[in-house]
Amino acid sequence: MRILVTADYQTLSRTAAELVAKAVRGRAEFVLGLPTGRTPLGMYAELVRMHRDQGLSFSKVRTFNLDEYLGLAQDDPNSFHTCMHEHFFDHVDIAEANAHFPDEAGNYEEAIRNVGGIELLIVGIGANGHIAFNEPGSGFSSRTRTVSLAAETMANAAKQFGSNAVPHQAVTMGIGTMLDSRHIVLLASGSGKAEVVRRSLRGPITEAVPASALQMHPNVIAILDEEANGEK
Ligand code: GLP
Repeated sequence: MRILVTADYQTLSRTAAELVAKAVRGRAEFVLGLPTGRTPLGMYAELVRMHRDQGLSFSKVRTFNLDEYLGLAQDDPNSFHTCMHEHFFDHVDIAEANAHFPDEAGNYEEAIRNVGGIELLIVGIGANGHIAFNEPGSGFSSRTRTVSLAAETMANAAKQFGSNAVPHQAVTMGIGTMLDSRHIVLLASGSGKAEVVRRSLRGPITEAVPASALQMHPNVIAILDEEANGEK
């Protein structure tokens, strides 16, 4: 695993966006795996800017989001679908039909396989070490499935949901699904992530820390800001 420590969140976002842009440019087709959460928002803003100012095109790109809550309408303000549209899809030239989200229908794995697999997967990390919604204890060979959210995950989401109830379940890519991607970029920002970053990247590989599975993948770049890196 390559660990890239950037000065701050803005540099992290720019570095991640440049990596995506470089991968997408000049390719007839490209398959991206995409995360939600606060961490990737700066990267999306930068990609939108590159689309506007430099003509970076997503017209030949297919995207597969990592996860989605169960029980929310697509246009619910708290759905990951809404988040992706607000921050990215509505501001670039991606075709609606090329932007995929997992659902209960159960054909996500097949859809990913049918386009030749994910070339570049971007992931964030939860405070408890989850990647997508693979909570601690998730099998490293797990595939896309319905999961129950950990209490800690629901408590963290509650701030964003305000007076609305946080769903108890979600559909998530599995850890095995994610590890099948040819390249993976992990993003982590802020001192609140330092401890879980340390356990995930530098600790033992264990299902108790889902993100530690990334240590087993041959092509991972972790982009951290100084606060998330934690080490002086
Ligand atoms: C949610 C998402 C994860 C994301 C995590 C961290 O739980 N399912 O994919 O990595 O939040 O979010 P944030 O970037 O806001 O810390």
